[in-house]
Amino acid sequence: MLAIIGGSGLTRLATLAVARREIVRTPYGEPSAPLVFGQIAGRDVVFLARHGHGHTIPPHRVNYRANMSALRERGAHAVVAVASVGGIRGHRPGELVLPHQLIDYTYDRQHTIFDGGDMKVVHVDFTHPYTPALRAACLAAANEGGIALSDGGVYGAVQGPRLESAAEIDRMDRDGATMVGMTGMPEAALARELELPYAAICVVVNHAAGRGDSAQSISMEALVRTLEAGMEKVRALLDHLVALVPAPDDAR
Ligand code: HPA
Repeated sequence: MLAIIGGSGLTRLATLAVARREIVRTPYGEPSAPLVFGQIAGRDVVFLARHGHGHTIPPHRVNYRANMSALRERGAHAVVAVASVGGIRGHRPGELVLPHQLIDYTYDRQHTIFDGGDMKVVHVDFTHPYTPALRAACLAAANEGGIALSDGGVYGAVQGPRLESAAEIDRMDRDGATMVGMTGMPEAALARELELPYAAICVVVNHAAGRGDSAQSISMEALVRTLEAGMEKVRALLDHLVALVPAPDDAR
């Protein structure tokens, strides 16, 4: 079963025929919202609103460990995360991007399930944070649906909830980050720790601070408009994706 994590602008999926909602408890606490089980185009899907159904949980307070372990425990075999980002280089507002790499600038988040105690020390491989087979399925879905999806980009995950200074964006640019968002980590790393194939579909909703029309400030009104239009495209992409997600053993 495919799990879809919806971010800002995607707290519900209109094409999801909801069968049931489940409040899940995990060793890490409760996920951001009840898991919503249902079908899209006849395929089983579980949906989770990352910021809660009322969009009340800021990025640094999301219980990423509870979210990912609840999805895994309730039968997800792959996770596609939807997230909004600011474009640093090579991406413009309105674009959908499928990142292939990431850089983690977050801090002070519960970022691992291998947290000592009775557990053995575990170091997971994270060379390619986004699962190639699942990325390929996302590209195929976009192709099938005639939806433009840029193949590749480097997601810089920041702490938030404030936006960045222009100098911070310059530094991220020098590091090689091509987009900036607040929720990509530790979500991707936890997926890897839990052996869940993971890919992210990013909606570029603004030029990052100091870039393009955000040279002086970032316009929240424009951002929200772009977000809504972008999420319409994401919904269409997901409708095609559900049938193309690799079977559990092939997804890694
Ligand atoms: N910075 C960080 N996170 C974001 C941005 C941004 O400019 N836009 C959307 N999410």
